[in-house]
Amino acid sequence: MTASPKIYVAGHRGMVGSAVVRQLMALGHPAERILTRTHAELDLTNQAAVHEFFASEKPDQVYLAAAKVGGIHANNTYPAEFIYQNLMMQANVIDAAFRHGVQKLLFLGSSCIYPKLAPQPMREDALLTGTLEATNEPYAIAKIAGIKLCESYNRQYGQSHGVDYRSVMPTNLYGPGDNYHPENSHVIPALIRRFHEAKVSQAPSITIWGTGTPRREFLYVDDMAAASLHVMNLPRGTYEQHTQPMLSHINVGYGQDVTILELAQAVANIVGFTGTIHTDPTKSDGTPRKLMDSSRLNALRWKAKVGLEDGLKAAYQDFLAHSST
Ligand SMILES: NC(=O)c1ccc[n+]([C@@H]2O[C@H](COP(=O)([O-])OP(=O)(O)OC[C@H]3O[C@@H](n4cnc5c(N)ncnc54)[C@H](OP(=O)(O)O)[C@@H]3O)[C@@H](O)[C@H]2O)c1
Repeated sequence: MTASPKIYVAGHRGMVGSAVVRQLMALGHPAERILTRTHAELDLTNQAAVHEFFASEKPDQVYLAAAKVGGIHANNTYPAEFIYQNLMMQANVIDAAFRHGVQKLLFLGSSCIYPKLAPQPMREDALLTGTLEATNEPYAIAKIAGIKLCESYNRQYGQSHGVDYRSVMPTNLYGPGDNYHPENSHVIPALIRRFHEAKVSQAPSITIWGTGTPRREFLYVDDMAAASLHVMNLPRGTYEQHTQPMLSHINVGYGQDVTILELAQAVANIVGFTGTIHTDPTKSDGTPRKLMDSSRLNALRWKAKVGLEDGLKAAYQDFLAHSST
């Protein structure tokens, strides 16, 4: 019997990395064959340390879910850190993986790689066809470089060394392990916190930013982890049939979007907030619609399973478990 592969999950304490570990364990992957290091134990921007780690641990597969991640405010305030740290982490992990014989690696990108005005829903071939959203351009450029690193190693070393590095681009994610910070969180955790606090303080109403009409797509993080394992484990021929050497990334979306007002109403129902929801049309709305085209992944026989209502219920339970409010 062949031993289970030794799998390194980079960023295992993050929202996605922890979901990947949960998914591997749920599928019966032995815990001792899952390799993890905290940021404090291994700084992935440190090239020498990363090479040393791969030399001594010799993983067979890598899920690259470590990244410097943040909202608009953080991206605007620390653009140098966002581009430098993400470029360094990816370059170090991907090159060390290659130099130490790793044939299978999955890189996690983001939907912000697509141009600001990309046709909706956004297809993989919208990449590099237009100008990026200015606020997170440095982060997006790093993510695009991550895709191109994987493709370049495949093109140069795919035949000679069996290198097979793949990329997935998730839509907005939510679920256990999310960041509920009052000022620096994404829309779902921010709404969960606000509605929960309004319920506790018996506030009569809540006002949400903008008209409530922009449409956004949300994917439960355990679905993201399932999609990651699915793409990683596709036979090489199948993956190559559905991708191109220089257009190889795969979108991972839920497949449907909701308006921000519909989302707010869903969160209110789950949290049990019974007051009124107002919109504030004087505040800017941002892009009217952001939806991934996930037909490439659907053709590879994967579809999201967790609906918004079930996902929000689980996310709220996670919030309650970690909140002292
Ligand atoms: N969350 C979303 O909605 C979303 C959407 C699309 C794509 N993604 C992508 O999914 C991936 C994972 O995102 P996430 O939401 O799971 O992020 P996260 O919760 O912030 O986790 C990122 C992880 O990376 C680690 N890390 C950061 N810098 C490091 C370094 N220099 N050395 C070692 N470890 C480091 C962090 O550790 P510390 O916390 O200790 O620094 C953390 O465990 C990212 O590539 C992100 O772009 C996320």
